[in-house]
Formats: sequence, C-alpha cells, structure tokens
Amino acid sequence: MKVVVTGGLGFIGSHTVVELQNQGFEVVVIDNLSNASISVLDGIEKITGKKPFFENIDLREKGSVQNFFQKHSDTVGLIHFAASKAVGESVGNPLLYYENNINTLVYVLQELIALPQANFIFSSSCTVYGQAETMPITEDASVQPAMSPYGNTKQIGEEIIKDVARVTNLSSVLLRYFNPIGAHPSAEIGELPLGVPQNLVPFITQAAIGLRKELSVFGNDYPTVDGTCIRDYIHVVDLAKAHVVALQRLLDKQNLEKVETFNLGTGTGSSVLEVIHAFEKISGQKVQYKIVDRREGDVVQAYANTDKAREILGWNTELSLEDALASAWKWEQKVRS
Ligand code: UD1
Repeated sequence: MKVVVTGGLGFIGSHTVVELQNQGFEVVVIDNLSNASISVLDGIEKITGKKPFFENIDLREKGSVQNFFQKHSDTVGLIHFAASKAVGESVGNPLLYYENNINTLVYVLQELIALPQANFIFSSSCTVYGQAETMPITEDASVQPAMSPYGNTKQIGEEIIKDVARVTNLSSVLLRYFNPIGAHPSAEIGELPLGVPQNLVPFITQAAIGLRKELSVFGNDYPTVDGTCIRDYIHVVDLAKAHVVALQRLLDKQNLEKVETFNLGTGTGSSVLEVIHAFEKISGQKVQYKIVDRREGDVVQAYANTDKAREILGWNTELSLEDALASAWKWEQKVRS
C-alpha cells in the first residue's frame, strides 16, 4: 500500500516514515530539502532496513505536483507535513507562509481527490486553541483568532479540508499536535533546527553541549506553579505512531465523519523550569539559564485532554518526558560528535 509523506525528511515526517515502514507500508517521500537534509534517508534506512522512495519536489510548483500524482496514482493515503513552522518568521513574512502552507495544500488536495482513494492526514497544531479557557483542552474547545500568520495557516488549512471533504471523496484526520520533542531512540534521526533554535528542547540540548551560552527563560511571572509557562511535551515517536493509526482508520473506513479532529498530547503539562530540571537529571548536565521578559504571543498554559484520541483512535502515549529528553540528548551528542 503506497503512502505519500510530504515533508518526510523533516522532524516529525521522518519519524512517521519509520513507523509507516515498520508497519509494512510502501512510503514515497516528497521533500524540497528547504529545512531538511538528504542524509535523513540514510538514518531511516539504518532504522528500518529500507530506504523510502524519494522525490525532491517543491509543492509550490503546481506542475510538479501534477506530474508526481500521474506517476503515483496508486497512492492510497497522504500524510502532509510539508510546511513552514517558525512563528516569528511568519509574522515578518506572511506571504511566504501563505504560499508555503496554503498554496501547497490546495495543489496536493486537487490531485489527491482525483484518485480513487483520497485519505489525508493533516498536521495541525494546538495553536488553534490560543489560550483556551479550560485545561486540559478538548477538541471542541473554540478556535481562537490566530496570533500569527503561521497559526492562521493551520486554521485556514483545517477549513479548506472541511470544505473540500463536504463535496468530494476526501476523508481526513486533522491532528492537533501539542509540543513534539525528542528523537528516535536509535539516534539515527532527530530534530535539526537551522540556526538558533526557537523551541525550548533543542535550545536546552544545544546549551548543554556548549553550542549556546545560556538559555533565556521567557518569563517567570505567569500564574503557574513556578511562574513559567506550561506545555504538553510529547515524544515524537509516540506522535509518529498516531499518524499510522489515523491513516489505518481511514483505510479501514472506520472514521465516523469525513473529517475527524484529534489532539495529540500526553495530557500532562510541564513548566519550563520542570523541563530544565528533568533534563539536568537525566543528562547529568547543568543548563545555564536566566529569566528574561515574556515572549510575545506565548500562552500561559496548554495541555491536552487525550480522551478522544484514546477512546476513538485507540492511541495512547507510551513514552515519558524523561524518555523524550534522554533521546533528544543522545541525538544532540551524536550530531556533534
Ligand atoms: C511553538 C509555537 C507553536 C508551534 C510550535 C512548534 C508559539 C507561540 N507557538 O510552540 O505554534 O506549533 O512552536 O514549532 O510560538 N521557551 C523559553 N526559552 C526558549 C524557548 C522557549 O523559555 O528559548 C519557553 C516558551 O516561552 C514556552 C515553552 O518554552 O513557554 C515552549 O516553547 P516552544 O518550544 O517555542 O513551543 P511553543 O511556543 O509552545
């Protein structure tokens, strides 16, 4: 069964390719290498024993997308990771984000719905909830006005998919990720941010290895246990497995609606300081940090209610925050060695 993974050499994409291959799917990866290295293919091969079929395609080129699907009309499902994801960058360059995240979605859907099977898994984000009023956040919590063009592309993406599914053969699962972290336990694949990491865990591991002098903790005057923000950090391997389960649900026609939405989180919130201290404990490294002003756009807290994913999708996390931090640290050490 041929499954296409766009952005399949990226952080979450590559881990999902591994899980798909482990389950016997034939995987075709599309990536334009704008934020990923071709060597990720070797990492995937080392873990699974098989190199996925790879096409270097820029999904903003409509003709290339059309050609691709002419060649791969036997595709039974598509998992769409290809997108830009830096919040700050999206504020400075909104058109880049609308082109990268919306145009590409439209082109992919146009081709997918012409196939006999149009099963589509979409990477959404808990960012659609903004600062939710109640914790943990359920899927029926209201979608708040987006705080960045990046966040807006996730909301618009969800709406596009719902509109298309209403009038075509498209079936879709929207997966709203909380904070994906960690790496494959083999340390063959992991997260490789370009430049200075914007996200917490890659910054921590780079600080611990000596690449960054000091971590800035954005605010300690929030109304939380220790004043720092609360997030739901989920191991990327658990997250990857959820994609395979969601795809299988569509292939088995188990879905109750044309478009279903699931939160992917652990259900547990951790503060920034808790993450730092957990990292120090599992790595034996001291993390230098200082408290600085709040970062614009940060919500106080966000963690998932995971009941729907557990009961309907039949998926649950298996790995802990400590597992995730240990794998991230193992990966960082391997990359710099
Ligand atoms: C961010 C995006 C989210 C996106 C996700 C994945 C925002 C508001 N949200 O999530 O939409 O889907 O990344 O790319 O940008 N922190 C520090 N110091 C640092 C870095 C982070 O204290 O150097 C804190 C943040 O204030 C936050 C927590 O760590 O409280 C997690 O931050 P981060 O890893 O950037 O994720 P989010 O902001 O939750």
